[in-house]
Amino acid sequence: MLNFDDELTTPTQRPATPQPAAQPFAASPAVAADFNPNSQMASHAGRVNVVDKRIINGTTDVNQLVPFKYKWAWEKYLATCANHWMPQEINMQRDIELWKNPNGLTEDERRLVKRNLGFFVTADSLAANNIVLGTYRHITAPECRQFLLRQAFEEAIHTHAYQYIVESLGLDEAEVFNAYHEVKSIRDKDEFLIPFIDALTDPNFKTGTLEADQRLLKSVIVFACIMEGLFFYVGFVQILALGRQNKMTGAAEQYQYILRDESMHCNFGIDLINTIKLENPQLWTEPFKAELYELFKKAVELEYAYAEDTMPRGVLGLNAGQFKEYLRFIANRRLQQIGLEPLFPGVTNPFPWMSEMIDLKKEKNFFETRVIEYQSGGALNWD
Ligand SMILES: [Fe+2]
Ligand SMILES: [Fe+2]
Repeated sequence: MLNFDDELTTPTQRPATPQPAAQPFAASPAVAADFNPNSQMASHAGRVNVVDKRIINGTTDVNQLVPFKYKWAWEKYLATCANHWMPQEINMQRDIELWKNPNGLTEDERRLVKRNLGFFVTADSLAANNIVLGTYRHITAPECRQFLLRQAFEEAIHTHAYQYIVESLGLDEAEVFNAYHEVKSIRDKDEFLIPFIDALTDPNFKTGTLEADQRLLKSVIVFACIMEGLFFYVGFVQILALGRQNKMTGAAEQYQYILRDESMHCNFGIDLINTIKLENPQLWTEPFKAELYELFKKAVELEYAYAEDTMPRGVLGLNAGQFKEYLRFIANRRLQQIGLEPLFPGVTNPFPWMSEMIDLKKEKNFFETRVIEYQSGGALNWD
């Protein structure tokens, strides 16, 4: 049995060899104090020395991808490119017929689909904004920036996929796209996230002090471990459970590809967090950890409220109790992945089949809806 999403992570979740801790705010001697990683060209002279590279507050030229220091980031970039897919490759005909058939789905199943899309249609735009307008500017390792650029495009593909499902089914676009304003359980999740996104997208925000670097790290943790790593999972389980019952198989296949991408985003984020910790151990204080535990507790509550709201009576053989267990299981796992203690000892995964979904192989067409086999990851064949 695969252990949840381990198959997509680096073997240890951490760089293979510990990186030397950076001198927190003392840059390499060649660097001006006002070094700006976002200037078009690094102003200081000298070639990039790999040992000088840092994930945050780095002073080496961010335009020079090599020499590589963070190979795990480059390898994940290559893996995400090999997973490339596009929403319109997936045939939605069966979903359309099922949706239009008055007896095709129960009212509870329809509510679930609409509420599910109501969260996701805007969630990936928030994710993309966070990367493009926030995180990217503060990360000084070009290997990681390369991954973030790819990730931003994938978030656009995900928004496209959700829009494509909404359009295919002929749903009320205004209702679905406004759900994050109008549906409390969705709005509450987004309101929890937005301050952490705003922290990084604030044009005046700069790293380089203990307080600012902790704020950055906290936002990266909230985004990777809570948003992508927890808030997406009730929604994924719901649509994939429909697919397993041979309903909404086109949507389910879209979600399966999205889940694979998000699992990679989450794992990249975890490697990023652990490397920032290794390079900046002064950030990992007891009050900081206590704050993280509180955030995880709150996030589990919000996601559970969303689960109850989307399926008030239980649906698809799934019930609220299973989701409570599942969210606690995921929260534990995310905490452990960043070196914290589990908050909910003894819980197990009530949906072991989710591991199979994440471990999607390119040649495997789980729901058999794909109209073409996409070949982007292999080497080009010139014969
Ligand atoms: Fe996404
Ligand atoms: Fe993502």
